[in-house]
Amino acid sequence: MSAFWSGWIIILSVANILGCVWLIWWTMRRRTGEAAQGDVTGHTWDGDLQEYNNPLPRWWLWLFYITLIFAVGYLALYPGLGDFKGVLGWSSQGSQYTAEMDKAAEKYDPIFKQYATVAVADLASKPEYQEARNMGKRLFLTYCMQCHGSDGGGARGFPNLKDDEWQWGGSADQIKASIANGRNAVMPAQAHLGEEKVDQAAAYVMSLAGRNVDAAEAAAGKEVFMTAGCIGCHGMDGTGNPLLGAPNLTDNIWLYGGSAGAIKQTLHKGRAGVMPAQQDLLGDEKVHLLTAYVYSLSKQ
Ligand code: HEC
Ligand code: HEC
Repeated sequence: MSAFWSGWIIILSVANILGCVWLIWWTMRRRTGEAAQGDVTGHTWDGDLQEYNNPLPRWWLWLFYITLIFAVGYLALYPGLGDFKGVLGWSSQGSQYTAEMDKAAEKYDPIFKQYATVAVADLASKPEYQEARNMGKRLFLTYCMQCHGSDGGGARGFPNLKDDEWQWGGSADQIKASIANGRNAVMPAQAHLGEEKVDQAAAYVMSLAGRNVDAAEAAAGKEVFMTAGCIGCHGMDGTGNPLLGAPNLTDNIWLYGGSAGAIKQTLHKGRAGVMPAQQDLLGDEKVHLLTAYVYSLSKQ
């Protein structure tokens, strides 16, 4: 933080506290020409609502004093006033955070290490590794749930990890690669084909998935599919390519929705789903446990 902003925060904080002290003093001061305590002041609202001159309730005043004393004490002991570190020198990142992390690492590292030597398929299925799957689940609820849902069921734009249908492949190694290195999908926009061909291609894609569409439009769409480059990624038969993350278009499972509108939007605008890499954040051993957990989800 620059010296200017530090000073600015200090001035604001101190002025605030002094302001509160002044407010108390001001409300307790007796003013000349005022109604005696307990009398009405002569102010009236809404016809019959009158103001009395009564002191502030005692409990309220005490709360106010305690708050002020707490604020001054806190700002003296802990960081809060700009760059001032506080008399105790406490820091959430320094001592406390690292101490807690070290303690957790001491306890869990040997367990993670031990599981890291077991094959994913065994961790995912054998009864004696139930605790490993529980740990994987807790990691999933911490790092993956925001996008894939608490049960791994996914949402629009975020794949379902339970259905054993994989964009990037469902072997242990492929799942691990998805988690560790992340994935960047590129579905290029096809707007250049024009409205009519996009509609036709959408009809063909829906027919691939076994949906009812206009047969003539789908036939025209097949022509588009074969000639416009779709097969380069999705394959001649539309079943996709895990190396490119190009999804299977024949299974009626849709990442971005299966309505005609959603499919046309995919074609017009393109899609670029991003799975963020976890290797640097979590390390080998946790990625291994997560792989086993995700693998187990899809095999239930
Ligand atoms: C460069 C490779 C590439 C080409 C060319 C390509 N696609 Fe895709 N397509 C992808 C990828 C990768 C995705 C997944 C996008 C994502 O996950 O964000 C995708 C997604 C889709 C989806 C959405 C699927 C879903 O589950 O929601 C449809 C529909 C689709 N493509 C149809 C087509 C059609 C039709 C063409 C040709 C006009 C085409 N694609 C051309 C790679 C490609
Ligand atoms: C910021 C959102 C986000 C987070 C957090 C996230 N993912 Fe993903 N993940 C995605 C998206 C989006 C995709 C699909 C990428 C694409 O379009 O191909 C994906 C794809 C995947 C895939 C590949 C699915 C397939 O069909 O091949 C796996 C496996 C996966 N995620 C596991 C995880 C795990 C495990 C975690 C937690 C460590 C995690 N993800 C955290 C967004 C996220």
